[in-house]
Amino acid sequence: MSILGVESVLFGVDDLALHSRFWTDFGLPVESISATEAVFRLASGSRIILLPLGDARLPSPDPFDGNGVKLTVWGVDNAENLERIAASLATEVAVTRDAEGTVHCVCPDGQPIALRIWDKRPVTSAASPVNTPQTQPRFNQHRIWRHKAIPKTINHIVFFSPDYVGSFEFYERHLGFRYTDHSKGVGIFARAPGTFEHHSIFWVNCDLPIAPDHFKFMHIAFGMDDIDEVMLGANLMADKGWKNTTMNTSGGISRHRISSAIYYYCEIPGHGGEAEYHADTDYLDDNWVPRAWDFKFGSLLWAASPPAIFRGPDIAWDMRFDADRQSFDPFRKAASGKRPMTGELSRLTQDDEHAL
Ligand SMILES: [Fe+2]
Repeated sequence: MSILGVESVLFGVDDLALHSRFWTDFGLPVESISATEAVFRLASGSRIILLPLGDARLPSPDPFDGNGVKLTVWGVDNAENLERIAASLATEVAVTRDAEGTVHCVCPDGQPIALRIWDKRPVTSAASPVNTPQTQPRFNQHRIWRHKAIPKTINHIVFFSPDYVGSFEFYERHLGFRYTDHSKGVGIFARAPGTFEHHSIFWVNCDLPIAPDHFKFMHIAFGMDDIDEVMLGANLMADKGWKNTTMNTSGGISRHRISSAIYYYCEIPGHGGEAEYHADTDYLDDNWVPRAWDFKFGSLLWAASPPAIFRGPDIAWDMRFDADRQSFDPFRKAASGKRPMTGELSRLTQDDEHAL
C-alpha cells in the first residue's frame, strides 16, 4: 500500500457557475457551491474542486492555458509513506509543503502534483447480473432500475505528456506506480500501488498529431456500477444539452480492448477536456503481466460508431507481453520538442482521439 488513488483534483475554470452546473448534472454529489469555489465529494471520499482561473489556490505558474485539471492530489495511506515519498521526490525535484502539510512538486513533464494522507472510504455499489444462454444468474428478476447516474470513484486521470515514457518512469521511481499496459506510440497506463483499477493515470504522447506540444489535461474517468448506469448518465446529460465529445465520429458508447472498460465521454465546457462515465474495467494486482499493443488492436473491442482507422478486417491481433519493457525503447525521448510520428499513428485525427 501507499498511494490509494486520486484524493482530489483542482480544476481551474473560466465560468464557475457554468462548470458547477455541468458537474451537478453529471451526477457528482455536491458538498458546497459558492461564488468562489465548488466542491463535489464522491462516495470514495475523492473530491472535485472547481476554482476560478487565477485563484491563488491553483498552481503557479499555470501549467497550461484555459480550463482543465491544474493540480492532481494523490491520497496516501499514512504519514510514514507520505514522508518516504516526499524524501524520494526531493532527490529529483523541488518539494514544498503547504500549511496543511500537503506535499507539492512539479513533475519533469510539467504536471503539478500534491500528496496528502487520505482516509479513503469503502464504496457501496451493485451491478445487475448478466444472463447468458447457458446460465441465468438474474432468473425471475429484472435489472436494477435507477433514477440517476451517480459517479462513485475517480478511476483515472489522463494527461498529454511531452515524454510519456519519462513521465511513467518518474511516477514509478518516486510514487511506486505499476506499469499496466503500453499502447505503442500512444501512451502508458499505470496503476497506483494501493488500488486495483487497471490504471490510475494514462499519459498520452504529445508527438501524436491529435495532441498539443506540451503538458495538458485530457480527461478524468469516474467509476459507475454498470453499463446501464453509464447510459442513463449519458441520456440525462444529452437531455440537459451537454455534448458527447465525438457524437458524430467515434462517439457514443464503446468498450476498450485495453482495460476492458465501457466508456462514454461528455465534453467539459470551454474546451476543458472530457468527463468519462466508466464501468466494468479490469481490476488487477501485482500478478498482472504488462502488455504492449498496436494501438489499432488495443483501442476498441467495439464501438457504437468506430472511426475508420479502427474498422476493417485488416487489423492485426497485435499484443505481446512486455514485462521486460522492450516496447519502451523506440519511444524514449533524447531531446525535447515534438517528434513527427510515422506509419499509421501519423494518420490519427481528432475524430480518433477518444477511441485511444
Ligand atoms: Fe479514460
